[in-house]
Amino acid sequence: MKDMYILGIESSCDETSCSIVKNGREEIATIVLSQIDIHVDFGGVVPEIASRHHVKNITMVIEACLVKAKMTMDEIDAIAITYGPGLIGSLLVGLEAAKTLSYLYHKPLIPVHHIAGHIYANSLVKPLKFPLLALVVSGGHTDLIRMDAHYKFEKLGGTLDDAVGECYDKVARVVGLGYPGGPKIDQLAEKGQPTYDLPMPLNDDSYNFSFSGLKSAVINLAHHEEQLHRAIVPEDLAVSFQQVVVDSIVKKTKKALRDHSIHHLIVAGGVAANKGLRSGLEKMCEQELVDLSIPPLQFCTDNAAMIAAAGYFAYLDGRIADLALNSKSSDPLR
Ligand code: KG4
Ligand code: ZN
Repeated sequence: MKDMYILGIESSCDETSCSIVKNGREEIATIVLSQIDIHVDFGGVVPEIASRHHVKNITMVIEACLVKAKMTMDEIDAIAITYGPGLIGSLLVGLEAAKTLSYLYHKPLIPVHHIAGHIYANSLVKPLKFPLLALVVSGGHTDLIRMDAHYKFEKLGGTLDDAVGECYDKVARVVGLGYPGGPKIDQLAEKGQPTYDLPMPLNDDSYNFSFSGLKSAVINLAHHEEQLHRAIVPEDLAVSFQQVVVDSIVKKTKKALRDHSIHHLIVAGGVAANKGLRSGLEKMCEQELVDLSIPPLQFCTDNAAMIAAAGYFAYLDGRIADLALNSKSSDPLR
């Protein structure tokens, strides 16, 4: 088969991104324009503001990516686009750009589920080996997914309430760290001692997670200390919280690997950037003789390279859309 260059577009939240990837494996060029500086004052992403900035930036980002790759649209074989899940206004901007390129340049349009993108970020590191277990940890998802072949997803379990990234962001807000909380708690955790006693969430035999109880426990603890006029030690709270999160995720992941006799674990999503989680998973995989793949930081958080990579395997699976393709704010991975 001839080499295939896919141009991917991602705009599901607050990153406007375009990337060109060869054969689902090799990143040629990527541009990611983050809006974090804009949303930081609001303590989180404001959907209306996010979509306006996508509109302002999308053309520039696509052009910059082609320039960086030293390629023209004639050399692109297909357009991969995140159709969902995500913020509907943000998704629509990327989708309309992708449809326009597809129509103008007569290129196939490949619909990519955002979580498939996060999973296929690992394909940019090394080829996926099956059967594998994908641990998806992001602002919107905490899922354990089994894959027996490309684009065959079987969800084993997931969060029953808050996603892990969402929990990080909310806890950070209570402790006064601002947005996005994940990276800030992660940094603080390196300097603290786990002095606060927090409950282990959903300590059962399922593959499901629950983080809202832990979030409430941190908020209650903060209020309690405040009532007693005692100052919270942010770095100690950060490491106490992070340890419980990491223990819960590592325990459930280990159980799923053992029960299913799987020896390949891939990690995906923004929280895969977390140092505590990375080291917890590394230790567990070493003990269990499991081959672990975690993407480099730039492919953990939202980016279009992962969408272009997933798009290649979606294309091989026959997933081509027409111009009636619509965005979806929520949609199961299938
Ligand atoms: O995958 P992502 O970029 O967007 C979604 O698809 O949700 O994930 C964003 C989430 C945010 O909640 C952010 O706080 C979290 O990932 N995050 C982290 C770290 N870096 C990003 N959480 C913990 N530790 C980190 N180092
Ligand atoms: Zn994401």
